[in-house]
Amino acid sequence: MTPLLKINQLKKYYPIYKGVFKRKTGDVQALREVDLTLYPQETVAIVGESGCGKSTLAQCVIRLIEPTSGSVTFLGREIAHEPKEALLPLRREIQMVFQDPFSSLNPRKRIKDILVEPLLYHKVCQTEEEALKLAKETLAEVGLNEGALNRFPHQFSGGQQQRIAIGRAIILKPKLIILDEAVSSLDVSVQAQILNLLASLQERYRLSYLFITHDLQVVEQFADRVFVLYLGKVMESGPTKELFSKPRHPYTEALLSAAPKEYPTEKRERILLKGDLPSPIDPPPGCPFHTRCPYAQEICKEPPPHKSDGPQDWFCILDLTKKKDISNL
Ligand SMILES: Nc1ncnc2c1ncn2[C@@H]1O[C@H](COP(=O)(O)OP(=O)(O)O)[C@@H](O)[C@H]1O
Ligand SMILES: [Mg+2]
Repeated sequence: MTPLLKINQLKKYYPIYKGVFKRKTGDVQALREVDLTLYPQETVAIVGESGCGKSTLAQCVIRLIEPTSGSVTFLGREIAHEPKEALLPLRREIQMVFQDPFSSLNPRKRIKDILVEPLLYHKVCQTEEEALKLAKETLAEVGLNEGALNRFPHQFSGGQQQRIAIGRAIILKPKLIILDEAVSSLDVSVQAQILNLLASLQERYRLSYLFITHDLQVVEQFADRVFVLYLGKVMESGPTKELFSKPRHPYTEALLSAAPKEYPTEKRERILLKGDLPSPIDPPPGCPFHTRCPYAQEICKEPPPHKSDGPQDWFCILDLTKKKDISNL
């Protein structure tokens, strides 16, 4: 099957300038050679601690920021380096929903305008009447009634605002929606409702989701596949069930053991990570996780065990699924 989205060796460095002469002193290495593929109608989760590069990845895909190098193709078409004007038709196909719905909705606009404007801009509708009709239908689909049309964003609860943001995303009938911590700020019950809504919209419109979150519980319910990021690198990826029940990389294991629920159901000891997250300005050589890894050995400081044309994950030399007793290493 042709992937909908294919990310190849994507790199994003944010330069750091210091002093009165604004000399460049280094880079924040937010993404380092990330590979990722997403197929039609699939939900792929990107997980990892705060600062590991999740939002940077999302923003590179929709070109809110310019990637340093690497490629991003959408339906086979390169989007990472094309002039932005050339991407206008693609803008419709990839929509994004952010964590804080209130700041992503213009507070001075009525819901009507928030929904109608993109339709006219992208010429999905030729007349305002036509657009308004579609806006009403979309509101109903996200569980709000027509009365919402003439109101302003602040007149809604957080959950309702997120429904509006989702409505604005689906109204253009995109193929891909990137959800960057889209349910993270909502309480658990509202979160569940929004996830249900997303699941039914996915089925109805054959949507693909790139689901960014630090909440592993939500990932387990919602994602088909998971990519684990650490210091801008993919540490491990795989089908959700497999990765949750049999993590191969020690970082995944640590992340899962720190989650509120125990994965898998069999008892697993909580692994406390040693030390702080290293700086992304000067990430550790070799496996980026080696400075905090309970199983680290000398070889982990060396360059990765696979060649650049090898598998996309950063395979640990120690495949946890193959080690029966790792305590006597
Ligand atoms: N505009 C920016 N300029 C410089 N550094 C940035 C910028 N945006 C993000 N970063 C840094 O890049 C790294 C990744 O950030 P981000 O993608 O926001 O991570 P996440 O979404 O996983 O929390 C962090 O170290 C962050 O401080
Ligand atoms: Mg983020």
